Amino acid sequence: MIDLFSKFDPLIEMRETLLESGVTDPFNLVMERVESPTVAICNGKRTILLGTYNYMGMTFDPDVVAAGKQALDEFGSGTTGSRVLNGTYVGHKAVEQALKDFYAMDHAMVFSTGYQANLGIISTIAGKDDYIVLDIDSHASIYDGCKMGDAQIVPFRHNDIEALEKRLKRIPEGAGKLVVLEGVYSMLGDIAPLKEMVAVSKANGAMVLVDEAHSMGFIGEHGRGVAEAQGIIDDVDFIIGTFSKSVGTVGGFCVSNHPKFEILRLVCRPYVFTASLPPSVVATAATSIHKLMDSADKRAHLWENSKRLHAGLRQLGFQLGTDEPQSAIIAVIMPDLETGAAMWEALLKEGLYVNLARPPATPAGMTLLRCSLCALHTGDQVGEILGMFAAAGRATGCID
Ligand SMILES: Cc1ncc(COP(=O)(O)O)c(C=O)c1O
Repeated sequence: MIDLFSKFDPLIEMRETLLESGVTDPFNLVMERVESPTVAICNGKRTILLGTYNYMGMTFDPDVVAAGKQALDEFGSGTTGSRVLNGTYVGHKAVEQALKDFYAMDHAMVFSTGYQANLGIISTIAGKDDYIVLDIDSHASIYDGCKMGDAQIVPFRHNDIEALEKRLKRIPEGAGKLVVLEGVYSMLGDIAPLKEMVAVSKANGAMVLVDEAHSMGFIGEHGRGVAEAQGIIDDVDFIIGTFSKSVGTVGGFCVSNHPKFEILRLVCRPYVFTASLPPSVVATAATSIHKLMDSADKRAHLWENSKRLHAGLRQLGFQLGTDEPQSAIIAVIMPDLETGAAMWEALLKEGLYVNLARPPATPAGMTLLRCSLCALHTGDQVGEILGMFAAAGRATGCID
């Protein structure tokens, strides 16, 4: 018998080597209590949360929580069914209407996760004989959607407009083409030059899908994302998003103005062959989305937080993923996994949680400490965070 687990041996060895160094397992942290979108208790200690993607801090919003409780009372704990059978309640229609209002688009389709939204939409619209041209740093759910649909996959260098154009021009005449981009790339927190990329895609006859998972609620005048901020949202064919970041719960979606969009409800397997979201979840999401429409002050405060953290970390001597803050994600580049894990642990002991990211999830084999800010981080908390980075950075030799 061939042990099917032998392919994991290199990863098992890497993990054992890391843990033998005595470091706390960075991928096994337990939140013992969560007090607010910015504070939890971990290992019995008050810990500031700086790695949750809870950008707009909606998880404890009183209206959001009340809507969830009411739906739980009125509709029960789950639908136990697919959207196309018994799993569409009024709440599912209401959250899709909230998305149509939020994006000012004709159609919205809600999935059980953002992962499934990418998997479903990409695999259904781009099949065998079609071409998908995608940024090489695309999220795993995008790659998995490409594989599932069996289209020809053509990756191009990260954020490189010329490379995208070259790839598009090489595709055989008459083939279906889908360009897949992200508004914010979550590893380094950099944004895409969507305006130029969408223009190049359209000039070469491609449809465009943009995943705005990390920009919804925050970037753009109405929080519609990078496509809105760059003035080209009407040229984008499909926007994918998630409820697991700014919206503050779980779920995923696609919005579009395509006139035939609704047919996807019958042919998209990750939509049809799975149970729909619980009523409490869609109620919290709809309430949150409505409130995000009217959150300009929070967006402004989140930008302030992002700029201050970026400037402060730079001043301390850390190497960052972008020269300027481009989103609510600030990535601190670590020299290697061992140092990254030591710094992660030192920060946790100081009372700060960030995400440790390592290859293969990261670009160019980097180890990163990814910080994601929240609109509810106070000025004092950002000050505390910088103090903790200074102390942990000196203790681990990352900075002088
Ligand atoms: C760019 C991007 N797309 C999609 C997803 C999937 O979202 P969800 O958590 O709703 O499955 C993520 C989540 O990490 C993401 O970063």
